[in-house]
Amino acid sequence: MKILIVGSGGREHAIAWKVAQSPKAEKIYCAPGNAGIAEYAECVDIGAMEFDRLVTFAKEKQIDLTIIGMDDPLVGGIVDVFEAEGLRVFGPAKNAAILEGSKAFSKDLMKKYGIPTAAYETFDDPEKAIEYLKDASMPIVLKADGLALGKGVLICNTREEALEGVKSIMTDKKFGDAGNRMVIEEFMTGREVSVLSFVDGRTIRIMTSAQDHKRALDGDQGLNTGGMGTFSPSPFYTEEVDAFCKAHIYQKTVDAMAAEGRPFKGIIFFGLMLTEKGPRVLEYNARFGDPEAQVVLPRMKNDIVEVLEACVDGTLDQVRLEFEDNAAVCVVLASKGYPVQYEKGYEIRGLEHFKNKEGYYVFHAGSRFDGDRIVTNGGRVLGVTALGKDLKDARANAYKAASWVDFDNKYCRGDIGKAIDEA
Ligand code: AMP
Ligand code: GLY
Repeated sequence: MKILIVGSGGREHAIAWKVAQSPKAEKIYCAPGNAGIAEYAECVDIGAMEFDRLVTFAKEKQIDLTIIGMDDPLVGGIVDVFEAEGLRVFGPAKNAAILEGSKAFSKDLMKKYGIPTAAYETFDDPEKAIEYLKDASMPIVLKADGLALGKGVLICNTREEALEGVKSIMTDKKFGDAGNRMVIEEFMTGREVSVLSFVDGRTIRIMTSAQDHKRALDGDQGLNTGGMGTFSPSPFYTEEVDAFCKAHIYQKTVDAMAAEGRPFKGIIFFGLMLTEKGPRVLEYNARFGDPEAQVVLPRMKNDIVEVLEACVDGTLDQVRLEFEDNAAVCVVLASKGYPVQYEKGYEIRGLEHFKNKEGYYVFHAGSRFDGDRIVTNGGRVLGVTALGKDLKDARANAYKAASWVDFDNKYCRGDIGKAIDEA
């Protein structure tokens, strides 16, 4: 098969690496890709939002399956555009990607179908939001309705902060049109777990669990980022939690979407919080997590192409997912200053250390070729993943491997996976 992957980050690198192992994959393209992805795929200079050019390319190259890695094109309706042209594509249609694209939609869905989540109200008018905040208890959580690169969530400890937050989201439009609407939500506490799943419209197959570290600095301090590191599995995702989620969250979400006339095909990423009252859904995403994919896919035994095809064809009930009985840790190497301001264009050295080393992977998040050299090209630069027999072993291996590569202004958190010591 000829396969096209759309995206350019560490997640797409992990997808490309996994697809490359499938005997079904004869030729892989990635648009636009990056310098790491280029090892497995021919990178083509077409942006993920250039739907017409992507369609033309897919037709010209007779692509058998296109895999959409990123949220923006999914929410923008790329799947509908491909399907209208008779092209096979993996990912939810626009009317299903709204599960990630609108927090108000997903909260209303959960309320309507009794899926456990934080109590909330939705606002179109900043004045009404301000009025509501007068009597609300603090802390409280404000969420811009639309996509905001994972940064549209504000946790406010005081009323002043919350009022300021309403202004920045709804009036000053800090996150653009994503802030035309806002969800104000009850603040919850507990451990967070990411659970990814494959869905074919009716059937859902859960992957192994993972945990992300969203804050920029050690000890979960600093600003929210796209993710500074992950580990898998989460020791806090117990059998009891799994049973609860299977009974109250996973299939219920898939059935709810089907009942709304929005059958979901693709990846549903459940962002869960394990509260004292039980697991609650924090958010849904309509694609693999980044950097969750970088720890989940290296542990997956299945041929990913077969699984993706089963989602597209509606035959996922015939697939059994299998994961290795091991663990993985991914440490993100970023450019100092991420997620606010950072320099690009520094040479990345030491990538050759990963060649032919089983159980060690360097997934590129932001890199490009500069002549023969590979240079940094983003805030998150690399995700170094290592496997181990257990989480401690994987963590030691990941930090060892993180020291094999170097670039100016390299920064990483020192405590990825530290939570496992508390398990
Ligand atoms: P989201 O994009 O909705 O997952 O939110 C980003 C992050 O904000 C989550 O990973 C949590 O750490 C935090 N968060 C979101 N909603 C809540 C909530 N209701 N209570 C506490 N923390 C939250
Ligand atoms: N790592 C969180 C996300 O991909 O949204």
